Amino acid sequence: MPNIYVTREIPEVGLKLLRDKFGKFDMNTEDRVLTRAELLEKVKGRDGVLCLLTDKIDKEVYDAAGPQCKIFSNYAVGFNNIDVEEASKRGIMVTNTPGVLNDSTADLAITLLFSAARRIVEADTYMRAGKFKGWGPMLLIGQDITGKTLGIVGAGRIGANVAIKMAKGFGMKILYVDKFQNKEMEAATGAKQVDMETLLKESDFISVHVNLTPETTHLIGEKEFGMMKPTCVFVNTARGPVVDENALVKALKEKKIFAAGLDVYENEPALAPGLSELSNVVIPPHVASATFWTRGKMAEMAALNLIAAMEGKMPEFCVNKDQLKK
Ligand code: DGY
Repeated sequence: MPNIYVTREIPEVGLKLLRDKFGKFDMNTEDRVLTRAELLEKVKGRDGVLCLLTDKIDKEVYDAAGPQCKIFSNYAVGFNNIDVEEASKRGIMVTNTPGVLNDSTADLAITLLFSAARRIVEADTYMRAGKFKGWGPMLLIGQDITGKTLGIVGAGRIGANVAIKMAKGFGMKILYVDKFQNKEMEAATGAKQVDMETLLKESDFISVHVNLTPETTHLIGEKEFGMMKPTCVFVNTARGPVVDENALVKALKEKKIFAAGLDVYENEPALAPGLSELSNVVIPPHVASATFWTRGKMAEMAALNLIAAMEGKMPEFCVNKDQLKK
């Protein structure tokens, strides 16, 4: 039987697939991220590892695992936590779980957009503090959404999903920035591909959906916040380091923008100093894919990727298929 390891418990549907296939297997059963030392120890001698976006998988981990290791199956669509280039050199497959979190992530981006624009968390906090003394003409006024302009930074699967829902459901005009033209999204929404400066200056709402790469690190910083409208609502459900979080805190504090909704943070789980004290930001803890259906599907896909590799097959969602050393 192959020697596999799961770095943290995932939904039962995935674990059952592994159990049915391999009988017993090892897993971190404590509900926490493994320390670096534990990770290096636990991967030793494994044929395959099912890991999470919170596990940094690099040269040191591949060395610790040993040359027999065939796959790191990531329980996420994003795989910026894995050194894919190094894996490819060593003939190690890296897999992910694309597609099944498009709706859940887009829906959370939209939830953040609404929550931040209509000050829902602030209003709820106000109510619970017993401050509500009756309807007030100036009480908790927010931004209109219907018919406004939404700027999508990164028009891939999730960005396009947000654009389509907001154009069709709320009559929003869509601007987008991407290396590629998304004709399907344009046809569905009338979206216009523009340059970054135009998007930043003309959007009432901006939602970020790019992968984290060296080129997209700090894509949005002080200069970019400075170009946004003071009424702009900014949303990030992609990866934290795409945004300079200190610059965002400054922009929110100085009212350079109206509000923000974030699901991801530059140095998770830490927050930039001052972020959590601001009332004009909504900050859930990286839960965009956290729906029962999505997390179940992710577990299934991560397990099936691992099983395929153990059976000597190419997993369906191998991100370095073409780069693997022959
Ligand atoms: C992913 O899969 O990359 C998401 O960030 C998990 O929520």
